[in-house]
Amino acid sequence: MKLRCIGCGRTIVSDPSSTLLCPHCGDMLEWINERSTSAGALLPPPQEFTLWRYSSLLPDIGNGGIVSLSEGGTPLQYSDRLSELLGIEELFIKNEGRNPTGSFKDRGMSVALTAARSAGRESVVCASTGNTASSMAAYCAKAGMKAFVVVPKGKVAGAKLKQTALYGGTILEVDGNFDMALEMVRDLSWKGGPAIMNSINPMRIEGQKTGAFEVCDQLSSSPDWLIIPVGNGGNITAYWKGFLEFRALGAVSSLPRLVAVQAEGASPVVSSINSGQEEVTFEDAPETIATAIRIGKPANWRRAMAAVRESNGAAVKVTDMEIMAARKAVASREGTLVELASASTIAAAIRLREQGAIRRDETVVCVTTGNGLKDVDQSEEPGSISIRNSGDLESILLNGG
Ligand code: F0G
Repeated sequence: MKLRCIGCGRTIVSDPSSTLLCPHCGDMLEWINERSTSAGALLPPPQEFTLWRYSSLLPDIGNGGIVSLSEGGTPLQYSDRLSELLGIEELFIKNEGRNPTGSFKDRGMSVALTAARSAGRESVVCASTGNTASSMAAYCAKAGMKAFVVVPKGKVAGAKLKQTALYGGTILEVDGNFDMALEMVRDLSWKGGPAIMNSINPMRIEGQKTGAFEVCDQLSSSPDWLIIPVGNGGNITAYWKGFLEFRALGAVSSLPRLVAVQAEGASPVVSSINSGQEEVTFEDAPETIATAIRIGKPANWRRAMAAVRESNGAAVKVTDMEIMAARKAVASREGTLVELASASTIAAAIRLREQGAIRRDETVVCVTTGNGLKDVDQSEEPGSISIRNSGDLESILLNGG
C-alpha cells in the first residue's frame, strides 16, 4: 500500500508491518487513501439496537419517558476456537457483559425502573450479589432516583461495589449471605418504603426476556441448546418466557433446550432437579468462587425448575476449578473476558459435550451474563514476566526467551 511521510512528504510503497518509519528521513508514515468511495456509497448509520425495539412485547409503562442507557443489543459471538475445543460446529456466546453497567441486569433494570418512575416512585431497594446493585444504582442516577442496595459483607466483587458507589447508590452491608439480604428486603415490601428491584419484581423478568428475542433474531431461529447460569433463577425464567412468546408469535418454530448451571457449592436448583424432586431443597451455606451466583434460596426456583423440565433441558453443577479453567479458555481462545459466574456455562457445555448430550451438529448458545472486569481480581493468572532492559526484551521477542 501507499504511505506518505509526515516529515519529508515522500511517497513510499510498502507494508507498515515491515516499514514503520520513513527510510529517507526517519519520520512517521500515514496511509494514502486511493480507494474511490463516494459519499453516496457509505452505508446509512445503523439504527441503535436496544431492547426497546421490542417495546410492543413489553408492558405499556413508559408514559413518563423510558429510563435507558442503551441496554440490550449485545453481540451473539460465533466462537470458532471454543467450538473447536468442544468438538462442535456452532458455539455462540451471548455477550451480556457488553451492557452499559457490564451485566444482563441492565435489561430488567431499564424496564423495572421505567415502571417504578412512571408510578411515581422516588426510591428503590434491592438485595444483591453485586450486579443488580450496580445496575440499579446506574439507572437511578439516570432517572434522578435514590438507590439503596443491601449486599453480603465481604462477598461482593470489589469493582461492583465501586461502580455502585460511583453511581451514587447507598450501600448497606449485612453480615450474612444474599439469601438473608433478600429476606430482609422482602419483609419490607409489606410495610411500604422503596420499591423492590429484585427479580421478584415482574418488570425485571419482562426486560430480561428480550435476551431470548435477540438470540432468536440473531440466529434467525432458536438454538438447539441455551446454557445459562442460575442464581436467584430470574434470568432462566425470563429467557424461557421469551422463547415461548416468540414461538407463540410465529417468530420462531422451535424451542431450545435450556441448561441451568450452578456451582457445586451453591446448587439447590440443579440438585433438586437431578434428584427428581418436585420442589426445591434450599441450601443454608452456599459457597463458590463465583460470588454472583452464591445463592442457596433462589426466589424464582419454581419457574427455574419448570424452564428446565418443560424445555427437556438439563441441570449441571460445575466445580470452582472448572469455572476458572473455563474463564481462562474463553479469554485465551476468544478474546472475551467473562465473569466467573458466566464462565460456568462454558464449563457446563464442555461437560455435556463429553457426556455426548450435546451433538456435534447442534447449535449451542452460552449466555455470558457479566463482564470479566467485574471480578478479574479473583483469578490466579501469574500474568507478567519482569524485564530490566532492552536486552531482556530482545532475548524474549527475537530469540524466543
Ligand atoms: N450471572 C451473573 C453475572 C449474575 O450477577 C447473576 C445474578 C446470575 C448470573 C444469575 O442470575 O439470579 O437471575 O438466576 N446476580 C444477582 C445480583 C443475584 O444480585 O446481581 P439469576
